[in-house]
Amino acid sequence: MNARKGFTLAGVMGWPVSHSRSPRLHGHWIAELGLQGTYVPLPVPPGRVGEAVRGLRALGFAGCNVTIPHKVAVMEHLDEIDPMARQIGAVNTIVVTEDGRLVGRNTDGEGWLRGLRDAQPGWRAEAGPAVVLGAGGAARAVTAALAAAGAPAIRIVNRTREKADALAASLGGVATGHGWAEREALLDGAALLVNTTSQGMKGQPPLDIALERLPRAAVVSDVVYTPLETPLLAAARARGNPTSDGLGMLLNQARPAFAAWFGVEPEVTAELRALMAEGL
Ligand code: ATR
Repeated sequence: MNARKGFTLAGVMGWPVSHSRSPRLHGHWIAELGLQGTYVPLPVPPGRVGEAVRGLRALGFAGCNVTIPHKVAVMEHLDEIDPMARQIGAVNTIVVTEDGRLVGRNTDGEGWLRGLRDAQPGWRAEAGPAVVLGAGGAARAVTAALAAAGAPAIRIVNRTREKADALAASLGGVATGHGWAEREALLDGAALLVNTTSQGMKGQPPLDIALERLPRAAVVSDVVYTPLETPLLAAARARGNPTSDGLGMLLNQARPAFAAWFGVEPEVTAELRALMAEGL
C-alpha cells in the first residue's frame, strides 16, 4: 500500500524554483541522518498546480514544500488544511498521509518564531507590543505565530492601509491596522519590531524607518535574508538592539516539514547555518 516504503521522496514545488535553497537544506539533513531518500526541485508552471498536487500521491511522494507563486493555489486541491494554514491563508508544506490524504500545513510562522527564540532566548511574546511592518504572506505567518504565542498587542503597519486593517481583523482583538506614516510613532513601548516587507532585500532600497523611538531592549527581526544583515538589522545592532535574521526562519520552517516526511526531527546547527549562509 505504501509505495514509498524504504525510500522517502520529497521536494519543493514552485515557479521558478531553481534558486531555492531548500534542496541543499533537506539534502544536508538526509545525508547527516543517514536516511534513504531525496528532496528535489519541482518546477510547476501556474495552471498545472492541481495536476502536480494530485500527482504527489501517484508518484509516492511523502509530501513537498510549496513556494512562490503556489502557496494559495494549492489549497483547493488538498483534502485537509490544518488550522494554522487556514489562519495564514496559505500552505507551505504538503504531507501525504499513510492512507493517501493530502494535508496542507503552514510552518512559516512557527519557523519564524523558533528562529527568533534561537537567536534571542530571552525574548518573551508577553513582554510587550509587537510592531509588524507589511501585510502580505510573510506578515500573515508572523502575526499568526505572535497571536498564538500570546503577544499582548500586534500593531500591523502597511503601505496599503486596507491590507493592514484586513489582516488585523482576521486576528481578532489582539491586532490593530495602521498606515505607513504611523510606523515610527508605533515603535513607542514596543518589545519587538519585525520587517516582513521586501524592503532591504538585495536590489531593493533599504527600509525607510528611523529607530529613535524604539526601546533599546526591543528585539528587531527581519524576514529578509539576502543580505543576511539587512540595513535595518545593521541599524538596530549599531544602537544596541538585539536582532534576529531571516535565515533562522528559512531553516526552522523546514524542521517540522522534514519531521513529518522523514519521521525524524532534524537539528539546526552552526555548521548548517554556515552552509546555508554561503553566498547570501
Ligand atoms: P510576502 O508574501 O513576501 O509577504 P507580498 O505578499 O508581496 O510578499 O507582500 C509584500 C509586502 O511588502 C506588502 O506588505 C507590501 O506593501 P503593500 O501591501 O502596500 O503592497 C510591502 N511593500 C512592498 N514594497 C514596499 C515599499 N516600497 N514600502 C513599504 N512597503 C512595501
